[in-house]
Amino acid sequence: MIEVRNLSKRFGEVEVLKHIDLDVKQGEIVAIIGPSGTGKSTLLRCLNFLETPSGGEIQIGDVRVSANNVSKREIHQLRKQSSFVFQSYALFANKTALENVAESLITVWKEPRVQALTTARRLLVSVGMEAHLDKYPAQLSGGQQQRVGIARAMACKGEVILFDEPTSALDPEWVDEVLAVMKQLAAQKQTMIVVTHEMQFAREIADKVIFMEGGVIVEQGPPSQIFGNPQNARTKAFVARAA
Ligand SMILES: Nc1ncnc2c1ncn2[C@@H]1O[C@H](COP(=O)(O)OP(=O)(O)OP(=O)(O)O)[C@@H](O)[C@H]1O
Ligand SMILES: [Mg+2]
Repeated sequence: MIEVRNLSKRFGEVEVLKHIDLDVKQGEIVAIIGPSGTGKSTLLRCLNFLETPSGGEIQIGDVRVSANNVSKREIHQLRKQSSFVFQSYALFANKTALENVAESLITVWKEPRVQALTTARRLLVSVGMEAHLDKYPAQLSGGQQQRVGIARAMACKGEVILFDEPTSALDPEWVDEVLAVMKQLAAQKQTMIVVTHEMQFAREIADKVIFMEGGVIVEQGPPSQIFGNPQNARTKAFVARAA
């Protein structure tokens, strides 16, 4: 369902992503791990053109774009195929939880407000936020804000949800509730790509783990391989350190 070919990204002289190939099937949970500064966030951001790739091709669902020849309309189409959950929740401070989740349904998908709010309520209930629908972000804990962030991503109706270290800014006591919501999504076969430092989560949930270093995919495989029997010495060293 996702096909990335020969994706590269440079910032000035520095090539941050080098000829990345990536395939993700519908319903697959992919975890991306690797050292800091390796290009994990840049890869996710390129997938929906938050960063413009320097070269290569990206297909998500039935939308295919070529980095070197892409129109505004194609970027818009591609963006509708995915949604993002960021480390810092990036909620609208002046909107309630309910309004935050309904926002994209109203502005992007042009749903009537009443219908959008009904969907938003259902999604917030599904992430355990029924008691907090009308609260503003400042009135919510970090874990609660991130659950709103996930419900908002679910509302975007894209093919895939992209998570960039969704728990790393949270106080430790809020991490588990967010991971629980992500596990629930995984059980529903929501296609997800998750950049994470949570090795235990990657091991339990991912169908495929990708180890990146220095802008390349060094090794990919099932968690049993990456964590249990890594084929590459650099994967082995990273996993040993991270364990
Ligand atoms: N807008 C930018 N301009 C210039 N360089 C950038 C920009 N964004 C990222 N980089 C550089 O690209 C490289 C990869 O960054 P990226 O954020 O993708 O790493 P990462 O693997 O997500 O790291 P971390 O685990 O710390 O989040 C880094 O060397 C970073 O300094
Ligand atoms: Mg990052």
